[in-house]
Amino acid sequence: MKKIMGLLLTVVLVMGLFVGCGSKNKETEPTGGKDNNQVSDEGKDSTEDVSTDKPKVGVTIYKFDDNFMTYTRNAMTSAAEGNAELIMNDSQNNQSVQNDQVDVMISKGVDSLVINLVDPGAAPTIADKAKAAGIPVIFINKEYPDGTDKIDYDKSWYVGTQSKESGDIQGKLVAEAWKEHPEWDRNGDGKMQYVMIMGEPGHPDAEARTKYSVEYIKSEGIEVDELEKQTGMWDATKGKELMTTWLGKEGDKIEMVLCNNDGMALGVVEALKADGYFSDDKFMPVVGVDAIPEALDLIQGDIMLGTVLNDPLNQGRVSIEMAINAALDKDVLEGLDFQLDETKAVRIPYQPITKDNLGIAKEAYGME
Ligand code: BGC
Ligand code: CA
Repeated sequence: MKKIMGLLLTVVLVMGLFVGCGSKNKETEPTGGKDNNQVSDEGKDSTEDVSTDKPKVGVTIYKFDDNFMTYTRNAMTSAAEGNAELIMNDSQNNQSVQNDQVDVMISKGVDSLVINLVDPGAAPTIADKAKAAGIPVIFINKEYPDGTDKIDYDKSWYVGTQSKESGDIQGKLVAEAWKEHPEWDRNGDGKMQYVMIMGEPGHPDAEARTKYSVEYIKSEGIEVDELEKQTGMWDATKGKELMTTWLGKEGDKIEMVLCNNDGMALGVVEALKADGYFSDDKFMPVVGVDAIPEALDLIQGDIMLGTVLNDPLNQGRVSIEMAINAALDKDVLEGLDFQLDETKAVRIPYQPITKDNLGIAKEAYGME
C-alpha cells in the first residue's frame, strides 16, 4: 500500500512538474505585443516579432523602473522592428533573477544576447553561459570594471560610454558657470560648498562622475568644500529625500548640487522648491547627467543649470544592430558608424547641455 501511495505521489508530482513547465513556457512565449515596453509592464517578458526567420535577440534590462534605461529600451524595440525578434526581460535589480532569465532565453534558442547587468561584476558569469551555448553577447550600460577585453570570450562586446567623460563635462559646465556667477559664493569665502548625490555604488558611471566632476572643478582653480555626499541609487525619490535632509541640516550653506544623473536631480529640484527655491530670486545651481526630457524642461525654465547628454537612441540602436550582426556571423560593426576601442567597447560620446543647445538633446531623445 505504502509503495502504491509512493508511486501515486511520484506520478502526481511529475504531472505537476509538466503542468508547471507548460504554463511557464506559455508565459514567455512570443506575444508580438508592441506596447509591452512601458514601465507599467514591469516583470513581464515581451517580444517584438513572431516570425522565426529573423534572429532572436534576448535582452535583459537591470530594472525597467529606471528613467534612462526606459529610453534605451524603447530605442532597442524600434531598432529591432522588422529586423529581429526581441525577447525583453526586466531583471528587477536582482542578479540571480537575471542569471535565470539568461538560462531560460538560451534554452528557448536565442541567437544572441544583449545584457544590461544588475551587478557589473557578473559579466564573466553571463559570458560563460553565452560561450557554453555558442552565442554572442553584447553588454550595455554597466561595464565590466576590468574591461570587456578581460572577459574570456571572443564573442563578447560592450556598448556604452566613456564614463570619465561625463564627469569631466559636468565639472566643466559647473566651473564655467561658477566663474560667471560670483554671487553663487553665498558666504563669500571664495570656495564652492557643494553636495553630491551619487548613483549606484560600484557602477562605473557613478564612480567616475563622482570623482572626475570634482577633479575638473578643482583643475579650474576653484576651491571646493564637500558638505555632503551620499548615494541616491539613480532614483528621484531618494534624491528628494537626501536633499530635504541636507537642507534641514546645512540650510543655505549649500551653494551647488552635483547629481550623478538627472533622475536624482529632478528629486532635488522638488525638495528645493518645497524649501522656497526658484521663486523670489532664491536660486540654487543643480546639475545632472542624461538630458532626459524632464530635465530639459527644467533647463529651459532656468531651474536646472545644465546636464550631460547620455545618448539612449544610439546606445539602444547600436547594441541591437551589433547583436543582429553577431547572430548572423557578420562583422559585428557592419553598417555601423562606430569603432571598437582596445577593450572591445563602442563608446557613444557625451555632450554638455545647457539652455543654448537643448535641441541636440531633444533630438537624441527623439523629441524633435
Ligand atoms: C545613467 C543613469 C541610469 C544608469 C543605469 C547611467 O548611465 O546615467 O541614469 O540610472 O545608467 O545603469
Ligand atoms: Ca562659498
